[in-house]
Amino acid sequence: MIPGMTIPGTTDPTAAAGLLAGRRILVTGGSGGLGAGICGVLAREGARVAFTWHRDADGAARTAAACGPEALCIQADLRDPAAPGRVVEAVEAAFGGLDALVNNAAFSEAVPFILLDDAELDELMQLNLFAPMRLARAALRPMIRQKHGRIVNVSSFVGSRTLPGPVHYAASKGGLEGFTRSLAHEAGPYGVLVNAVAAGIFEGGLKHTIPAHHQARYLQACALGRFGRPEECGELVAWLCSDRNTYTQGAVIVQDGGTTG
Ligand SMILES: NC(=O)c1ccc[n+]([C@@H]2O[C@H](COP(=O)([O-])OP(=O)(O)OC[C@H]3O[C@@H](n4cnc5c(N)ncnc54)[C@H](OP(=O)(O)O)[C@@H]3O)[C@@H](O)[C@H]2O)c1
Repeated sequence: MIPGMTIPGTTDPTAAAGLLAGRRILVTGGSGGLGAGICGVLAREGARVAFTWHRDADGAARTAAACGPEALCIQADLRDPAAPGRVVEAVEAAFGGLDALVNNAAFSEAVPFILLDDAELDELMQLNLFAPMRLARAALRPMIRQKHGRIVNVSSFVGSRTLPGPVHYAASKGGLEGFTRSLAHEAGPYGVLVNAVAAGIFEGGLKHTIPAHHQARYLQACALGRFGRPEECGELVAWLCSDRNTYTQGAVIVQDGGTTG
């Protein structure tokens, strides 16, 4: 090699320290399937990870163990309108700031739309759509001050495709995607990148709410012939949270192994 010449990519200091070295990242729903996979990859890449959990104390303990001693676990019912602000405050107090937010917590159940009452619609929207909006609003304040931030919303391929799935869940994810696109415009001038991942079917978590015949059709249509693994979603989220992402903004990236593309 010619003295003084470098091969592109080989001098990136983050390559050794991790893609997210020192970044302070909040992930909601870290006790669940995708959330655990996302937290694990973020921690492996050097991030200080804070995550929320609701009912699954064992899942939270497993994720905390995978994220190392610096992990911060916060129990919260994110349907409560006051919870998102409290969670962001707790992370800022513990970590001295916040660099990225991953809105992952959500709920779904296979119930015909006409059988849902107002309380059920409200509960799902509070968690799947309003909590991410409230969390993003709270997280944007420190991000705007520091003129740097990343927000990643975990959506679903039913959010913008004509697919069978719980109608209220699909509506919440469609809302989340519209929120992502619009917020990207408002937050972009402050150096905050806002994107979404529209996940196909992944192992664990809410997969059990998808009827077996729909899962079978998915596998038939999937170019890779298998379900996703939570850590594969984590890899994409990690890149979106990192400084390597400089120009992907307001995007809804479908990650479904080539099923609906
Ligand atoms: N798995 C899939 O095939 C799939 C497909 C497309 C999209 N997704 C998306 O991936 C994300 C994660 O889903 P998942 O499959 O990993 O499901 P999951 O294992 O059921 O995880 C859901 C997470 O949300 C938390 N949560 C539930 N209710 C809550 C509440 N009231 N307040 C605060 N947190 C609450 C759960 O906490 P506790 O467990 O501690 O109660 C859990 O950590 C969701 O946004 C989902 O829409 C998943």
